Amino acid sequence: MPVITNIEDLRRIYRRRVPKMFYDYAESGSWTEQTFRENVSDFADIRLRQRIAVDMAGRTTKAKMVGQEYTMPVALAPVGLCGMQSADGEIKAAKAAEKFGVPFTLSTMSICSIEDVAKNTSKPFWFQVYTLKDDDFMKRLFARAKDAKCSALVITVDLQIMGQRHRDLKNGLSAPPKLTLRSMADLATKVPWGLEMMQTHRRFFGNIVGHAKGVTDPTSLGSWTAEAFDPSLDWNRIREFRSWWDGPVILKGILDEEDAKKALDVGADAIVVSNHGGRQLDGALSSIRMLPRIMDAVGDRIEVHLDSGIRSGQDVLKALALGAKGTMIGRAFVYGLGAMGQAGVTKALEIIHKELDTTMALCGERDVANLGRHNLLLPADFDTRWQ
Ligand code: GLV
Repeated sequence: MPVITNIEDLRRIYRRRVPKMFYDYAESGSWTEQTFRENVSDFADIRLRQRIAVDMAGRTTKAKMVGQEYTMPVALAPVGLCGMQSADGEIKAAKAAEKFGVPFTLSTMSICSIEDVAKNTSKPFWFQVYTLKDDDFMKRLFARAKDAKCSALVITVDLQIMGQRHRDLKNGLSAPPKLTLRSMADLATKVPWGLEMMQTHRRFFGNIVGHAKGVTDPTSLGSWTAEAFDPSLDWNRIREFRSWWDGPVILKGILDEEDAKKALDVGADAIVVSNHGGRQLDGALSSIRMLPRIMDAVGDRIEVHLDSGIRSGQDVLKALALGAKGTMIGRAFVYGLGAMGQAGVTKALEIIHKELDTTMALCGERDVANLGRHNLLLPADFDTRWQ
């Protein structure tokens, strides 16, 4: 068994274990992938301020997100197709999250359905909604999330249409994978993955198949998003969704100060500063670079979270020091899931937690609540370079 010490170790194991089409699905951005890369490299551009001889005993990473206390301010982001990264992947990730004490967010594009995840877990999870044209489907989706006792609704607002990821088109991404000569040659090298997958009945988009009308090929993510997603989503519609849900609403995919102000106007409880992991508008700035402007615009009036680019506890600390109250990890937990199932998600959370705790200590802080700009050394033009 290799000694796993960081998230990159998990990525390497994941790559060997999981069919190429699902690895590529997770590990890509749209078009030139500039934004996908800069999400990570902009974190690396921020340096930390070392402080010494501060009493380090009694440290805590505990923090509240939308009213609930968690082990650390890190949630598992909604990620499509987790049940293709590992059999029953959403249930495995949700179990790891609840044991660790962080929120799991189930994607609309999951393989395991809302009901299935609820049945197999004991703590409430967050549910992410995409906005589809079919109004009956949407109303039922909200009702299903309520029946499953989801504790927050995450509405993704940056994917009315899908950014083009070249590899998904080239690989013919589908769930389950279509058997072609190419995919079979790859599957032949991923036997443990295939054996596990053969033992589950959960191989289709569980929230969609049998629930949504007008979807001609429900195995193809590309075609059903093109057919079923509502390109006319606007702020009035978001306001309407807000009124359908009586618990916390988190709007995910805000990358601009003006949109952050609008999120406040429609009564969101929190926003996630995100460019969808660089999978939508290639050429957009990284989330971490946009965070300071958004904090200046709304940070004192709404809970601001951040995702896109986090691969370590140091990255989490940097986001918190710039004002975020919460963060989300997507790829960082998917690597663990694909590498080692539930134990791999737990491993990813342990790695990030330890990195956050140790980094906080070496920065001279004992409580994540006290992190601030004073812990960082930023390039002089970090938030002003691109105007
Ligand atoms: C879905 O949200 C995706 O980015 O593929």
